[in-house]
Amino acid sequence: MSGIYKLNNVSKKYGKGVALDCLTLEIGDGPVALLGYSGAGKTTLLKLLAGLEMPSSGTINFKDVDLTEKTVQNVRRTVSMLFQEPISFNRSVLENVTYGLKIRGMNGEEATKKASEALASLRLEGFENRKATKLSGGEQQRVALARALVLEPEVLLLDEPTSNLDPANAKVIRETIQEFAKKNLVIISTHNFLDVRRLAKWAIYLECGMIVGTGTISDLLDNPKDERIKRFVNGEF
Ligand SMILES: Nc1ncnc2c1ncn2[C@@H]1O[C@H](COP(=O)(O)OP(=O)(O)OP(=O)(O)O)[C@@H](O)[C@H]1O
Ligand SMILES: [Mg+2]
Repeated sequence: MSGIYKLNNVSKKYGKGVALDCLTLEIGDGPVALLGYSGAGKTTLLKLLAGLEMPSSGTINFKDVDLTEKTVQNVRRTVSMLFQEPISFNRSVLENVTYGLKIRGMNGEEATKKASEALASLRLEGFENRKATKLSGGEQQRVALARALVLEPEVLLLDEPTSNLDPANAKVIRETIQEFAKKNLVIISTHNFLDVRRLAKWAIYLECGMIVGTGTISDLLDNPKDERIKRFVNGEF
């Protein structure tokens, strides 16, 4: 796991609360699963990796450039994050997906073509003119993934993308992630061990904002050495 991201002593505080505590870590090869109890810091870490928030201290290096207020724009252009609760604009599905392309300067016709392809790959043909906010949760999650992928990011960050989805919606999302992960880096936070095994090669286990273990899925899930990881894997507090 070396290469694309290099974190050095990264901490994130909200007021007096420490969400991430001195993380030193390299991530290159994926897919990577972020594991840990609720409140461990998974979403916070994803937001920092997406350049949506800055660390309180420490440095994040992305493709050999340290993140600063000036360089973070490049990360936001290169990295897409899918949130646990899909965020849709109160417009048509098509407008939701073409929006990001248009603000990057693509003309309407080309943006519509690309958006239609992205929607089709998520089995959303025929949804183009529906209001995105009126779709079901699973459909909105698929639209959100189409909106992320149409921008052709180099890195995809996913925050519990299949939680609350029925098996059919979850399968479409999973297959799309697997396809993207053949060529690009995927980092996924999930509580679903089946998804972890199906989607990820590496795992990072966080507890109370700290890294307790990193390794292959089989190292961490099948042969955990650390008592804390053993407890987590066995579903105990
Ligand atoms: N904007 C914020 N303001 C204040 N505290 C925050 C904020 N965001 C996160 N926290 C705190 O930081 C810690 C880590 O939260 P985070 O959302 O990263 O956990 P998580 O591992 O994603 O949990 P879950 O599995 O429940 O999604 C928690 O204690 C949380 O309350
Ligand atoms: Mg979270």
